[in-house]
Amino acid sequence: MDTFKTHFFDVLDSTNDTAKNYPPFSVICADRQTKGKGRMGRKWESESGNLFMSVVLPNTPDAPKYSFIAALAVARTLSPLPVHIKWPNDILLEGKKVCGILLEAFENKLIIGIGVNVAHTPEKKMMYPVTSLAACGETVSSKELLNFILQNLESVIQSFDKFGFERIRQQWLEFAVGLHKTIKVRLPNGEKIGTFDGITENGALMLKTPNKKQIITVGDVFMI
Ligand code: BTN
Repeated sequence: MDTFKTHFFDVLDSTNDTAKNYPPFSVICADRQTKGKGRMGRKWESESGNLFMSVVLPNTPDAPKYSFIAALAVARTLSPLPVHIKWPNDILLEGKKVCGILLEAFENKLIIGIGVNVAHTPEKKMMYPVTSLAACGETVSSKELLNFILQNLESVIQSFDKFGFERIRQQWLEFAVGLHKTIKVRLPNGEKIGTFDGITENGALMLKTPNKKQIITVGDVFMI
């Protein structure tokens, strides 16, 4: 893997925070985190045995699209297992969350934080079902998985650079869970129920409700 230079640590507060001090194309990986961060200010349980990695890229106006690029790279890494993506970037295995992705922009950098439950299923009660690769009968080391993810990330980024977001969008949709089904979206200021009608050319969720079509950029999706 020539594109990325990986730095390994035993313990960090958060690989995303450490990554902010490194130049683009660095990858920060820790055996465990003491302040693992999830989306929307949540905590990410970070026990040794799982994968905690952050990739530093140059920031770009296309940053939001990297949420889908990263999710596609992880989904490809885990296929042909029964893997799906829940909008925008949760990776589900057998319908349960196995990986979360947190993007952060910092100065002129874009940090893509990826957490995969490799050996341990988080025990704390979550708002959705969770699993781990081990619980699904898969044994892989975090280090092997890191390399596979980086290979796929590199190839998805190359495809994006060459062909644009439309191809990524199509491939993301092939993994999407709940497409054309009724879903509930928990928004920062309430909830909406409707039919998941796909994603826009920027990756926003399209929700069809009886009276109108809505475009949603932030929220948590639940299958109902
Ligand atoms: C989510 O809420 O689904 C996103 C979770 C992202 C967790 C990863 S673990 C590596 C990186 N460092 C962090 O502190 N968070 C991300």
